[in-house]
Amino acid sequence: MTPTNAQDLLRRALAVLERHEPEMADAPSTIPVADYLDAERFERERTLLRRWPQPVAAADVLRAPGSHVSTDRLGVPLLVVRGDDGVLRAFVNVCRHRGARIVPPGTGQGSDRFACPYHAWTYGLDGRLRGVPQQVGFPSLDREAAGLRPLAVTERAGAVWVVPDTRCAAIDAGALLAPLADELDTMGFGTHAGFDPRTIERRCNWKLLADGSFEAYHFKVAHRATIAQMFADNVQIVDELGPHRRLFLVKASLDPTRPPAAEHFQPRQHGNLIYFFFPNTFFLVQVDHAQLSSVEPLAPETTRVHELTLIPDPPATDKALGHWQRNVALYRATLAEDHALAESIQAGLASGANSALTFGRFEFAAVRFHAQLDAALRSDVPG
Ligand code: FES
Ligand SMILES: [Fe+2]
Repeated sequence: MTPTNAQDLLRRALAVLERHEPEMADAPSTIPVADYLDAERFERERTLLRRWPQPVAAADVLRAPGSHVSTDRLGVPLLVVRGDDGVLRAFVNVCRHRGARIVPPGTGQGSDRFACPYHAWTYGLDGRLRGVPQQVGFPSLDREAAGLRPLAVTERAGAVWVVPDTRCAAIDAGALLAPLADELDTMGFGTHAGFDPRTIERRCNWKLLADGSFEAYHFKVAHRATIAQMFADNVQIVDELGPHRRLFLVKASLDPTRPPAAEHFQPRQHGNLIYFFFPNTFFLVQVDHAQLSSVEPLAPETTRVHELTLIPDPPATDKALGHWQRNVALYRATLAEDHALAESIQAGLASGANSALTFGRFEFAAVRFHAQLDAALRSDVPG
């Protein structure tokens, strides 16, 4: 983050604390309940999300030639590989013969080729079709055209990101992330190590999990058992960068009567930063590490959450391991509070109590997210 940006965050945070009123939109707003329930809309959202970079792994697990990650995002089996030439590539993890999954889910090292478990068609690390047993059965097979389907991939902010739509294979995924990833890379996350990744499933619409990450209004109540005491009440400084945004959630330690020197102000020392990568990934920057959380819609009322912690170095001692485990435990306890509330909202959505959900003037970032999502859905070309 530039000193100018940091000083702007400090100035605005102090102004909010001094006047005891958060930055706000001109008016409250509402989001239709149907937006969280509608199956047709849900399919259009999934199609849209497939066109945006999805974080699939910590970058450090894919550093060595021959390393690979096999996973799934948004209904697409993915294979990410570091080639012998050092190039990172991503493919649809589906055989070009009769469509079996080639590499089972998980990570691996030292591969030099991938053989399909069905009839052993074999692919190189570059995705090219290398071997076809009994090729007499496929007299007109064009090997060049029968390689694995490529996908756009990039390495930014300590993670590997894949765009799971084959029609987007030629786009620059890094450019889509640039405004936020550039800032995160200046904080050194590009060389961080992944720690304790986890995937969980929640019974709620993916946007309810997003809504809960766009305001600190709920901290004092929903997080009273975990992080509430650490934060100023309802202070969120929000900046949009294209469809993405950065939130500065100010800690109670920032005292407006004894403000820190502006020229040395480090936002991470006085609050959490949430970098929201449109449309479904949150990168939470804390004092000495970061936590990445990506919400993957599975069904209108079911969401998979992929979590990854990024730390400066792999823990070398039990003390370091304990430190990071405690950090992850607090993160998960806090998110569990958010997730339980999102599930409770989902359970009542169809009750008829509300035809729309109400968002106060200081909950504007969630409202903006829905507006940007709506705009993206309108401009989306049905595939
Ligand atoms: S489906 Fe892969 S080799 Fe037949
Ligand atoms: Fe929360």
